Amino acid sequence: MNTEIVKIEINNDKVSSSALEEKELSVFSKEELAAIKQAGEIIKNGGLVAFPTETVYGLGGDALNPESSKKIYAAKGRPSDNPLIVHIADFEDIYKITSKVPDNAKKLANAFWPGPLTMILPKSDIVPRETTGGLDTVAVRFPSDFVAQEFIRAAGGFVAAPSANISGRPSPTEAKYVIQDMDGRIDMIIDGGENEIGLESTIVDLTIDPPQVLRPGFITNEMLGDVLNEKVETDRAIIEADSGIAPRAPGMKYRHYAPKGILVIVEGNREEVVSEINRRLEEDKANGFRTGVIASDETIGEYSADVSKSSGKAGDQFTAAHRLYSILRSFDDENAERIYSESFALDGFGAAIMNRLLKAAGHQIIKL
Ligand code: TXA
Ligand code: MG
Repeated sequence: MNTEIVKIEINNDKVSSSALEEKELSVFSKEELAAIKQAGEIIKNGGLVAFPTETVYGLGGDALNPESSKKIYAAKGRPSDNPLIVHIADFEDIYKITSKVPDNAKKLANAFWPGPLTMILPKSDIVPRETTGGLDTVAVRFPSDFVAQEFIRAAGGFVAAPSANISGRPSPTEAKYVIQDMDGRIDMIIDGGENEIGLESTIVDLTIDPPQVLRPGFITNEMLGDVLNEKVETDRAIIEADSGIAPRAPGMKYRHYAPKGILVIVEGNREEVVSEINRRLEEDKANGFRTGVIASDETIGEYSADVSKSSGKAGDQFTAAHRLYSILRSFDDENAERIYSESFALDGFGAAIMNRLLKAAGHQIIKL
């Protein structure tokens, strides 16, 4: 298959919302609008298009067409019991794909949509089970990225989209990674530049009481709890790796985000971590392995790895999240075989960073 690649790069920060509210004003050029329209036609005709969102790139198909969902699973190499997120670009559309929208869903939508939050709700009959991995519930997300929104509207309003990576690889946060994984497998890739956040959306299950976070993300449990006026906890299966409990989000059970090399997290105070990682690096080098390190701006100079990457200033969670997947992919590009990462604090957005890092490491963590 020949994959067409189109570039539509908008800086969301520079677009004023008042400009957007005036319907005549478009943030897109005529050519860009034509390309997005074409992408929408591909979806309506049962094809697949990768597109940017504020979190990671999505691999889109028509959420209401069972054949499209089957194609998505095939392109990703993903097990078909792993449900897809349905992306909308108009809040009212939630009523078409769900059978019940509880008050807490309305409150969360009000506070966080459009944005990096996915809500699990009971599905309506028009959503095929091929899209929901056989479940009676559906994951719904209204992304804030303008390219995503325009594309979803052009596609008919309901775009099923997992992250646009081959199953098991880190989610793509730049078009070049989508191209690496999907070139030749799908009809079109919309290159919208680097994704703003770089980690997948927070998933909250509203079909249970109290609601539960199934995947941590930029919208934290505290932020959800503040809006809902109750304490929101994370699915225990996600926090306790060895609990043997099945996670409620089927996708969370799979090995994921993993580099090809072996990744180990080292946790402790700064001096101890640096010396322990350096000791292991020496050992690995003596054994002939190519080595890698995920450090911070403050510590990167202290390591002797073949490939050293900084996740930003210590404590800068936004930068760490933004860089995580491209760092993991760069280890593959540079053939790192033994990789060590410093650990991250668990507060705020840190819970999401550590969730992904632990999965990438197959939960190998050394606590000093
Ligand atoms: O930020 C994101 O959410 C990105 C962008 C493209 O929007 N999408 C994304 O999709 O991360 P994906 O397919 O890689 O992850 C979706 C997760 C999986 O873990 C899946 O099991 C879970 O959502 N999920 C989807 N529908 C569900 C449902 N009905 N019940 C429970 N979990 C569900
Ligand atoms: Mg994914």
